[in-house]
Amino acid sequence: MTRKTYYITTPIYYPSAKLHIGNTYTTVAADALARFKRLTGYDVMLLTGTDEHGQKIQRLAEAKGVSPKEYVDEIVAGIKKLWKMMNINYDKFIRTTEDYHVKAVQKIFKRLYDQGDIYKGNYEGWYCTPCESFWTETQLVDGKCPDCGRAVEKASEEAYFFKMSKYAPRLIDYIESHPDFIQPESRKNEMINNFLKPGLQDLCVSRTSFDWGVPVTFDKKHVIYVWIDALANYITALGYGSENQELYKKYWPADVHLVGKDILRFHTIYWPIMLMALGEPIPKKVFGHGWLLVNGGKMSKSKGNVVDPVVLVNNFGTDAVRYYLLREIPFGSDGLFNNEIFIKKINSDLANDLGNLLSRTCTMIEKYFDGVIPAPSGREDVDNNLIDIALDTPKKVEKNMDNLRIPEALDSIWELINAANKYIDKTTPWILGKDADKKDRLGTVLYNLSESLRIIAVCISPYLPETSEKMYKQLNADIVSWDSIASFDGTKAGTRINKGEILFPRIDLDKKLEELNKLKEQQKALKAVKIKPIKEEITMDDFEKLDLRLAKVLECEPIKGTNKLLKFQLELGEEKRQIISGIAKYYKPEELVGKYVVIVANLKPIKLKGEISQGMILSAASDDGSKLFTVSVSGELPTGSTIS
Ligand code: ME8
Repeated sequence: MTRKTYYITTPIYYPSAKLHIGNTYTTVAADALARFKRLTGYDVMLLTGTDEHGQKIQRLAEAKGVSPKEYVDEIVAGIKKLWKMMNINYDKFIRTTEDYHVKAVQKIFKRLYDQGDIYKGNYEGWYCTPCESFWTETQLVDGKCPDCGRAVEKASEEAYFFKMSKYAPRLIDYIESHPDFIQPESRKNEMINNFLKPGLQDLCVSRTSFDWGVPVTFDKKHVIYVWIDALANYITALGYGSENQELYKKYWPADVHLVGKDILRFHTIYWPIMLMALGEPIPKKVFGHGWLLVNGGKMSKSKGNVVDPVVLVNNFGTDAVRYYLLREIPFGSDGLFNNEIFIKKINSDLANDLGNLLSRTCTMIEKYFDGVIPAPSGREDVDNNLIDIALDTPKKVEKNMDNLRIPEALDSIWELINAANKYIDKTTPWILGKDADKKDRLGTVLYNLSESLRIIAVCISPYLPETSEKMYKQLNADIVSWDSIASFDGTKAGTRINKGEILFPRIDLDKKLEELNKLKEQQKALKAVKIKPIKEEITMDDFEKLDLRLAKVLECEPIKGTNKLLKFQLELGEEKRQIISGIAKYYKPEELVGKYVVIVANLKPIKLKGEISQGMILSAASDDGSKLFTVSVSGELPTGSTIS
């Protein structure tokens, strides 16, 4: 029997800077969904990647003095590292600079042109480079980009246009007859009322003012608009437009495109229209999630208020970060990221509720049954109550996940965790342990706890994969399939457990907050120190013209009439030299006598305040001029030694 497929995508990210916890959020949510679908028997394709063309990237590369490809290669490597760190188990990572994608996008564009959906015209309007979006005069808000509020640039050029207007009525019909297509529901109304009903304008789909993009094959001075290039990734990644259509046939249409609410417009208007024009099926669902906010505002690269996922993972571990994002941010609305709430959640939900449940259970199995899970014998009401909740949990999780209610799925798992903790309080195994006659009852209690923990470990595996693995290991559980948790008997009595490390050590809130604040200050200070730009490149020949030597200060005195200059008498092998140097602000003359310094020995002599200066003493200074130190060598060498 062929398995049902599930195709889920994240947006492909602009490799314009390090990704932050906001972008990480989408990808972690997509990964949890994909893992859940794999666990429940689907053949899953999780696609993520990077959107590497466009003026923004070209400008950033230029500013850094590297080619756009060099620029993106470095950032993409960092993004892949981050996904590894976050335990993102993607099936494919697409880069829009890859050859197969470029060729497929060119084919799509040519086809739309040949069939008359794309035509040549003249573009006059406003362009927001950070958003890669065109706007008409009336769409601007206070003369700024209506999406991000930043400045726009006047653009006027020959361009190709896509006849969006032709497809608008069909799209409105489609959206209205497919209530599941745009989720959550409120976003659907926004798309219809704000964008579709007022009338769709034809979309400008090529540019001539820069060249970092996919060239139009039949008109080489044009590059294809980056959103056309980017949206196509969802099908080119499956081989659309290539020789091999196997994956495309298997996985398309996508089950869900997961995107942030700011890019919902592109995914629910331009993208379905592109697909309609190509005669291809429309994705089943586009889910627009909310934003991660910090102190009330959207976290974004341009605002500089981003939370770095790497710092969080290094301090709290991958699963703690995944947990917070998946449970605490209402899926579909905006949510707050805040270190204090985050740490409190780790302590209460992960350390207390889950971690303690496992460690208490394992400790009691060790203490009362020498580390071997006992067999159950008979059930009382209190047991049935726990078992009912345990058997209900997978059903609730599945129902919530089918409706993309990730936090609610976790809520239902925590209901079982809390029920198991209460079960310990009610059955009081530490009292049963004191009475030899109650050994069987104690065995039943500990079996039920072990089996509940196995069910919990299977249920949390899509969200907290590392923790789930640790739990399997400690329980020595080898039956961990989704099917195995439909009944309450997957734990084998007689299994020897491996009590291990604490899952989530308790965090000292105040201490950790202080540490994080300090780290932030340090990072701020580092950013504030701007180093001087590196000077123009020189050749080896240029460098070899310099004659650097080690010299010793024999005498040093201030020069009268100035508070900047010091006069040095230096020993340079056999020779004695005089050099004037402007470092009086940093040293008292007597501090320098006897010091070894490095000098430029072949600098043309000059006169300063009537004194001859035959060279220059090298020193290192902070860019703000507050500190300066003369340069020396770390070992003993005779004066006059060359430095190269
Ligand atoms: O838009 N909270 O890429 P991108 C939650 N290349 N999500 C956030 C966020 C926040 N604070 N800040 C950003 C692009 N995001 C295009 C996509 S897809 C064919 C092309 C989300 O790197 C944002 O909503 O600017 C978007 O979904 C994603 O990060 C990518 O942003």
